[in-house]
Amino acid sequence: MFQIPKGLFDIIPYPENEMWKVSYIWQYIEEVLKKITLDYNYLEIRTPIFEKTPLFLRGVGESSDIASKELYTFNDKANRSMSLRPEGTAPVMRAFIENKMAYDRKIHKLFYIGPMFRYDRPQKGRYRQHHQFGIECIGSNDHKYDAEVIDMLLELFNRLKIKNLKLLINSIGDLESRDNYKKALIDFLKPNFESLSKDSKERLSTNPLRIFDSKDPKDKEIIKKAPIILDYLTKESKSRFENLLSTLDILKIKYEVDPKLVRGLDYYDDTVFEIIREDLGAQNSLGGGGRYNKLLKSLEGEDLPGIGFACGIERLIQTMLDQEIDIENKNVIFLHIIPLCEKGIDFSFLLAKELRHHKISVECEKEVRKIQKSLSLANKLKAKYALIIGDNEMNEKKALLKNLQTREQKEIPFDKLKLHLRDLYYKIKGK
Ligand code: HAM
Repeated sequence: MFQIPKGLFDIIPYPENEMWKVSYIWQYIEEVLKKITLDYNYLEIRTPIFEKTPLFLRGVGESSDIASKELYTFNDKANRSMSLRPEGTAPVMRAFIENKMAYDRKIHKLFYIGPMFRYDRPQKGRYRQHHQFGIECIGSNDHKYDAEVIDMLLELFNRLKIKNLKLLINSIGDLESRDNYKKALIDFLKPNFESLSKDSKERLSTNPLRIFDSKDPKDKEIIKKAPIILDYLTKESKSRFENLLSTLDILKIKYEVDPKLVRGLDYYDDTVFEIIREDLGAQNSLGGGGRYNKLLKSLEGEDLPGIGFACGIERLIQTMLDQEIDIENKNVIFLHIIPLCEKGIDFSFLLAKELRHHKISVECEKEVRKIQKSLSLANKLKAKYALIIGDNEMNEKKALLKNLQTREQKEIPFDKLKLHLRDLYYKIKGK
């Protein structure tokens, strides 16, 4: 038997023994996402799932784990190096530049939903293919956009009824702030060099800020006493951060300043933020993002600033299930037609066709079966009604309509059947 590669999963409609993989939940989330993007005026952008590898090395940053260890890279038949996208921001920037979008308007609000690929050790909440909902707001460095983006992420959780979350926020400053900070950090870490993990020893020369991403317990202990970046911000970065915090206060958004929050991608400037679950230790980040004012230019595009976030849909679903949040299954059929005699089969099939052409959801049995079997299928389909057409019904030209919830049933003459069912359907739909 073929098996799915490690760290991947299927999204299937049934059986429902692992609820987070069940498709109606994904459809529910996608519906909420589409509405919220409309409410905040974001338009959809779809980019391919693979790109030329250098885009990620340059975009995400060669010193980040995502680019240096976790890329799914392959050579195509012409021996060009390609990589499955580990995240959405760099591809969106590539598409933005290539399609000359900058010239259409001043502010660009783009969203995407789709799979991302990271070669990491799989565990609950961490997959080799995961799905992200992300937004990118390009064109302004006004801190009010930072606040709007953060509010949107929080409102998404609010609409999904997810509770017990914390917004962590930090500023990693501009380039000058980070250069000053890096020097201080290196000075602090040098005496501890021998105790650092192999990766962090390397990070010290490539990008010391990445040491904050380390999961090594010894590194974590050392870093606890490290200087914090907030003490090294330039005047501009400091006042920008203060302005953002006061705008968050005006918007009544609660936050916790976390001076050790650096995020695992190299393109950030100034604002970084993350939403974490307070009840989880590992894989507790539901979403995160930040400002990237130099990214577009570094990819040979326009000199435009931007800010965005992405959240992991698997983690949203897992949290909703952990918190026992009700998710309505809208994949329900209105009517299940059950012919109980050979003569009834064609009649049923034609009726099903006509109702479907009126946009009514119908299933219709194609052969005569035991009524119990048909009713049990109707139950699985969560059908509201069953229409039973046996010998008697065909002779008397009327069908038996059964309400599967109340168990009430009544006979409907064939000539009134379509009108009756349509009325019933639109009455239910209108509720
Ligand atoms: P990120 O923090 O790397 O940010 O990923 C965003 C979210 O994707 C995480 O908070 C987490 O919920 C989810 N996630 C990441 N890796 C996995 C995984 N292996 N399995 C399951 N879920 C995962 C970015 O990707 C940035 N592009 C966000 C951004 C947009 N910054 C600015 N604009």
